[in-house]
Amino acid sequence: MGNNAFKGGVSVRQESCYGRTAHTKCGLYLLASSLAAALVGGMCVVARWGGRVRMKAFLNIPRAILIRCVAVVTIGAAVLSDGAVTSVLAQTAAGQSLVEKTFPHSNKCKRCHERVYEEWETSPLAKSIHSPAFRASLDVYLNSAGGKDKTLCFRCHAPHVREFPDHAQLFVDQAKAGDPSLDGVACSQCHLIKHVDRAKHPPEPKYEIGGKTLYGPYQDFVQNLAHQSMELSLFQKSDLCLNCHQSVPSAVNLGKSNDLLGNWDQSRAIKSGKECQTCHMPQQVGESANGEKKRRIANHSFPGRIGKLRQEAAKLDVQTKVDGDKTTVMVKVQSLVPHNLPATHPAWAAVALNLDIKGKNLRTVFSDKRVYGRTYLDAQGQKTPFDFEAAKVVEDTVLKPEETREETFTFPTPKDTKTFDVEVALHYAPLNGPASFLQRVEAESSQGSQDPVFQPIEIVKRTENIPVGK
Ligand code: HEC
Ligand code: HEC
Ligand code: HEC
Ligand code: HEC
Ligand code: HEC
Repeated sequence: MGNNAFKGGVSVRQESCYGRTAHTKCGLYLLASSLAAALVGGMCVVARWGGRVRMKAFLNIPRAILIRCVAVVTIGAAVLSDGAVTSVLAQTAAGQSLVEKTFPHSNKCKRCHERVYEEWETSPLAKSIHSPAFRASLDVYLNSAGGKDKTLCFRCHAPHVREFPDHAQLFVDQAKAGDPSLDGVACSQCHLIKHVDRAKHPPEPKYEIGGKTLYGPYQDFVQNLAHQSMELSLFQKSDLCLNCHQSVPSAVNLGKSNDLLGNWDQSRAIKSGKECQTCHMPQQVGESANGEKKRRIANHSFPGRIGKLRQEAAKLDVQTKVDGDKTTVMVKVQSLVPHNLPATHPAWAAVALNLDIKGKNLRTVFSDKRVYGRTYLDAQGQKTPFDFEAAKVVEDTVLKPEETREETFTFPTPKDTKTFDVEVALHYAPLNGPASFLQRVEAESSQGSQDPVFQPIEIVKRTENIPVGK
């Protein structure tokens, strides 16, 4: 407990709380008696989830007033309440309010964890059931021969479906609507995980539901009224991530051959003590909750395809040999990633190495590429990019953890020029799949063929100017 105002977990100061935001002292002060009664073994039991506080006009109150004590208590107590309160929620189905009683919506956490929320909001995780590609592929899946289990895609894209299998249709409807109000992979979807069972393949999260505790990395957390806190070492371990990132359940009969991360645990990075969080939730110093003391915090923008981490993904070494009419380019692609690249859905979301030779007037005179991904056969022996139809992996070219791959390209030496450019670029390839599927994605997207999934995302690029010589 890094705060002087607390003794044994309870605030004993009775000061005015004006000017504080998420601050817990306010709440503790106001609820001191019930709090004391609820004290268990030195651990504080604070506000009850499901409190009966009305907060109708609340969302419209300016922040200046919000940060007063009373407001804070009200927010706090209402965070995990049944949600029949705001106008937005009032419009939604009973199913959704049931789901959100158990897995409070992320916008309830935003009030006190503004920084975390804003980071998370920019991450791909915040849009895990929003994208046109998701809608289109969900539809392909549901209409496929094996598409009976409506929960399948949501097990990773909106994992609280695991606790509500009878409401799977709600998740489907929301995703299909294109602008779901239901969370996908949000705050409670991770912070209610108490255990990850790695004996299962894929590993399974065990949620602690119906309680009041959110799990996290801190042992010395400050008390607050909205929820109880508990430290779990799981939150600093790769295990937490594995239940969604290790393998796809539909293709489980493919066994190891379809593991998404490969032998990540044998990589130098992991053996030297790094966890997924080390790279994908880099540590910084700041406030964990609004107005609280500065401490070690974790970035929630989950850098990957987006963000600077990409520059650490791979190195390219390019050697060009002009031999009369024939030129050979040798490219060494050194993956610095401690797991497979690409990692997830490697058939439709591949990585590609492109070679472009630019001769006179920088006109492209030769192009070639190598694709790093997987090719599946379905039960009928036809090629399919969809892992949910896969019966067999026929080709696997994904870059393995920390692998160096050598590629050789040979082509006629460009003519009528003294020099030519060799451009080599490694990038995430645009979405791949049957034309009907791609058209469907395009039709679903407000940006049409400009949808981001159709754009390559560059990882690393090298350009060299080569003299043709004599
Ligand atoms: C409940 C399932 C789930 C858990 C747990 C989970 N993820 Fe993810 N993660 C996803 C999904 C789904 C996406 C893709 C969202 C999208 O793009 O639609 C994703 C995307 C990502 C991305 C972005 C990838 C990219 O292409 O940029 C990163 C990085 C990531 N997760 C890291 C982590 C880390 C680190 C952990 C553990 C702390 C973790 N994830 C835990 C489901 C999960
Ligand atoms: C094992 C967990 C898991 C399952 C099951 C799963 N996904 Fe994903 N999915 C992910 C992760 C993780 C990513 C992020 C990939 C990345 O960016 O590296 C992702 C990314 C995607 C993307 C690209 C990002 C986007 O939102 O446009 C689509 C589309 C997608 N998944 C569709 C599906 C569909 C449809 C299903 C069901 C058939 C499904 N997924 C099942 C984990 C899963
Ligand atoms: C009334 C304000 C308030 C609300 C609302 C709130 N929290 Fe917190 N939360 C706090 C405070 C204060 C801390 C302690 C921060 C510290 O110790 O620096 C905290 C700590 C945490 C921790 C760290 C726990 C640990 O032991 O590591 C997690 C995780 C967390 N909150 C998640 C959430 C989630 C998820 C929600 C939404 C369901 C939420 N919080 C809503 C105030 C709040
Ligand atoms: C994919 C899983 C995942 C999601 C989604 C997620 N968190 Fe976290 N969160 C973690 C992990 C893992 C840590 C611990 C990271 C560490 O210490 O290395 C953490 C740490 C925290 C902490 C303490 C450290 C800090 O940065 O303040 C708070 C508070 C927190 N999360 C709140 C939230 C809230 C609020 C949301 C939603 C806006 C959210 N988390 C979404 C996995 C997640
Ligand atoms: C040593 C740092 C490091 C560690 C540890 C690490 N990664 Fe990565 N990861 C990377 C880099 C670098 C990339 C490539 C960045 C990019 O997406 O361009 C990446 C990419 C990803 C992607 C996006 C790849 C894709 O195909 O879209 C996901 C998802 C991911 N990592 C998940 C994980 C998970 C889960 C773990 C833990 C098992 C983990 N990472 C551990 C460095 C790391």
